[in-house]
Amino acid sequence: MYNLVLSVETSCDDTSVALVKSDGTVVDQVTASQDLQHSVFGGVVPEIASRNHSIALLPLIDEILKKNNLTFENIDGFAVTNRPGLMGSLIVGVMTIKALSQSLNKPFIGVNHLEGHLLAPFLKDEKYKPQQDFDYPYIALAVSGGHTSLYWVENFSEYTIIGTTKDDAAGEAFDKFAKMVGAGFPGGASVDQCAKSGDKNKYDFPRSMVHENHLMMSFSGLKSSAHRLISKMSPEEIVTEKNNLCASFQEAVVDVLILKLKLAAKKYQTKKIVITGGVSANSRLREKAHELSQKGYTVVIPPIRYCTDNAAMIGYAGILRLNQNHSANLNLGPSAASLPEDFKINLDQATT
Ligand code: KG4
Ligand code: ZN
Repeated sequence: MYNLVLSVETSCDDTSVALVKSDGTVVDQVTASQDLQHSVFGGVVPEIASRNHSIALLPLIDEILKKNNLTFENIDGFAVTNRPGLMGSLIVGVMTIKALSQSLNKPFIGVNHLEGHLLAPFLKDEKYKPQQDFDYPYIALAVSGGHTSLYWVENFSEYTIIGTTKDDAAGEAFDKFAKMVGAGFPGGASVDQCAKSGDKNKYDFPRSMVHENHLMMSFSGLKSSAHRLISKMSPEEIVTEKNNLCASFQEAVVDVLILKLKLAAKKYQTKKIVITGGVSANSRLREKAHELSQKGYTVVIPPIRYCTDNAAMIGYAGILRLNQNHSANLNLGPSAASLPEDFKINLDQATT
C-alpha cells in the first residue's frame, strides 16, 4: 500500500513538485512559474522551458522535503508526467524521477497530464475540502493553453473524449487575442482583467458550431474575426476600445464553453460537471458556471492551484495506479502525445 508519493510535473512551463496521499490529500505543493522568462517572447519557448525545469526541479524537491520535515525515506514512490507535452520539458521530469527511483530503489509511475486534470476535483488540503458526496461519473471540461476537450469520466481510468476543439485551444485563443490588443502575457488573465471594465455586447464575435448538436468546438474563426476587426482600427482606437474588445471576445469564448458543457451533460444524462485547466481561472466562466449551479447542476471548479498545471493532480493519479499494482520501468520515456490506451474516443458527430 502506497501512502505517500512525491510527484513531478514539467510538461510545459511550470515546474511543480507535490507530496500526495492516496485519499487525495495534498501534503504540500511547490511550483516555480516561468511566466517572466517567456513573457518577453509572448509565448512559451520550449528550449527555455526545458532549461529552466532542469535548473528549478532538484531545488524544489529539496525544498518540499525540508519544509515538511521529511526525507526520501518517508516517500513510498514517485509519479511523473510523461505525456503529453513538450518533449524537452517532459524529459527533465522523467529522467529526474527515473534517477531517484533507481538510486533509492522505490517504484515510480508515468502519468498522463490530462488524466491529472480530470482527477483534480478529488484533491484536498488544509484550506480546501471538496464537496463530500461528489463522485464519478461526471462531465469534465479541461480547458487550457494547450487543450480544450470534454470528457465523460466514468470512473478512475475510464475516460472518454466526447468533444474537442478542431483547431485552437481556448487558452491559446485568449493568448493570441491578448497579443492583438496589447493586453500582455500570459494573455488570458490580462484579457479577463480588462474585460471587467468593458462592454461584453459592444462587438458581436462569432460563436462557432453552437447550433450544432455535437460536442466539437472551434476557436480559429473567432480569432480571425477579431484579427480582421482589430486590423481596421487605429492604434489609438485599439487602446480606447481594449476593454470592450476583451469583454466581447471573452463572452464569445465562454458562451461556447458553457453551451457545449450543457449539451454534454444533456447527452450523458448527468448534472455533474467539472471545469479544470488554466482557463477555469476566468472570472466570466466562473460566473456562468455559478449560474449553472443555481439551475440544478453540480459544478466543481477546483482551486486555481489544482486547475493550472500542478504536480498534485499527477501525484493523485499516480498513487491510485501504484496502489493497483502498476509501476513503470526504466524503459519509460516521454511522449509528446497521449497513448491510444489513455482515453476512449467518441466524437460522434451524429445527433443523439
Ligand atoms: O493549465 P495552464 O496553466 O497551462 C497549460 O496551458 O497547460 O493554462 C494556461 C492557459 C493560458 O492560455 C492562459 O492564458 C489561460 O490558461 N488563462 C486564462 C486565465 N488565466 C489563465 N484564460 C482566461 N482567463 C483567465 N483568467
Ligand atoms: Zn494542463
